Amino acid sequence: MAEIILGIESSCDDTSAAVLRDGVLLSNVIASQQVHKDFGGVVPELASRAHEQNIVPVVSEALRKAGIKADELSAIAFTRGPGLLGSLLVGTSFAKALGLALDKPIVMVNHLQGHILANFIRQEGVPVREPQFPYLCLLVSGGNSQIVKVTSPLEYEILGQTIDDAVGEAFDKCSKMLGLGYPGGPIIDSLAAQGDPDRFHFAKPNIPGLDYSFSGVKTSLLYFVRDEMAKDPQFLEKNKEDLCASFQKTLIDVLMGKLVRAAKETRIREITMGGGVSANSGLRQRMLEEGARRHWNVYLPERKFTTDNAAMIAVAGWFAYKAGVRTPLDVAPVSRMADF
Ligand code: KG4
Repeated sequence: MAEIILGIESSCDDTSAAVLRDGVLLSNVIASQQVHKDFGGVVPELASRAHEQNIVPVVSEALRKAGIKADELSAIAFTRGPGLLGSLLVGTSFAKALGLALDKPIVMVNHLQGHILANFIRQEGVPVREPQFPYLCLLVSGGNSQIVKVTSPLEYEILGQTIDDAVGEAFDKCSKMLGLGYPGGPIIDSLAAQGDPDRFHFAKPNIPGLDYSFSGVKTSLLYFVRDEMAKDPQFLEKNKEDLCASFQKTLIDVLMGKLVRAAKETRIREITMGGGVSANSGLRQRMLEEGARRHWNVYLPERKFTTDNAAMIAVAGWFAYKAGVRTPLDVAPVSRMADF
């Protein structure tokens, strides 16, 4: 009998539902929340309210697009954490209620596991190209910057992570600081494409081991712009492309430096990326160049699967379901990785 998984994602500001049949994606519906734009960042209370409004139509649409009736589902996979607690509560409670009503098992998924398995989302008519285990995943989003060693779909180890800001946060905060808008990553990405990445230089962190730090790069940009603006009030406007390109290059240098080191230390050449920042054109390009130079096999997730989506939660849930994982109905969401 076919295994049909409904995936539900609500960890931050995207409400998403996806349906997977025997590992192949049938639908992936995402409602992104626009209410945060005016605030320059996600407002947790507004996010949970929007999830409450979106969850029923999004799940209904995912089932409709897939041509699947709710009682045909084998299991319901949902993001238990990490993320914003109020947002996670909506998806978790919905999954529990649906599981109870349909008498179907529920399977909890760690959001990060979804991102690191994004290359396993199979689509009809799209050639399959999946990393071999073990592989390294550079997981870069608004909440995380990590190098993860993935030994199997259910086993992974964090080799290094940020000790302060996530790299996506650095993109977002700097964009806000420069008055460019939110979310900053895509805006800086497109301005950077028109600028000179070697024009300006910002301080790079010197952190031991495989950990990251991004707050210093951000402060370096802030002070540099402040000092230049004191000399020429038009400095920002005249140089924003070069500023974005140079800042983006600094972040990419930092990310790649530790990834190269992790690949050398573990002798792993299967390399993937995941998370919102893995949509970045400069980072994708550098990953391919570095991969060619170092004889890595590089796997880049499709851009539509880099930001938060339920397809990756359904895939992670499918692996867990096949391994016999069933989550009790008294499960509660968790906001932090450490509580998982
Ligand atoms: O994975 P994601 O959708 O949400 C979580 O943080 O879990 O990632 C969102 C982050 C934001 O910080 C956003 O600015 C960044 O991903 N992002 C990008 C790009 N697209 C999204 N950063 C750099 N370049 C991009 N093209």
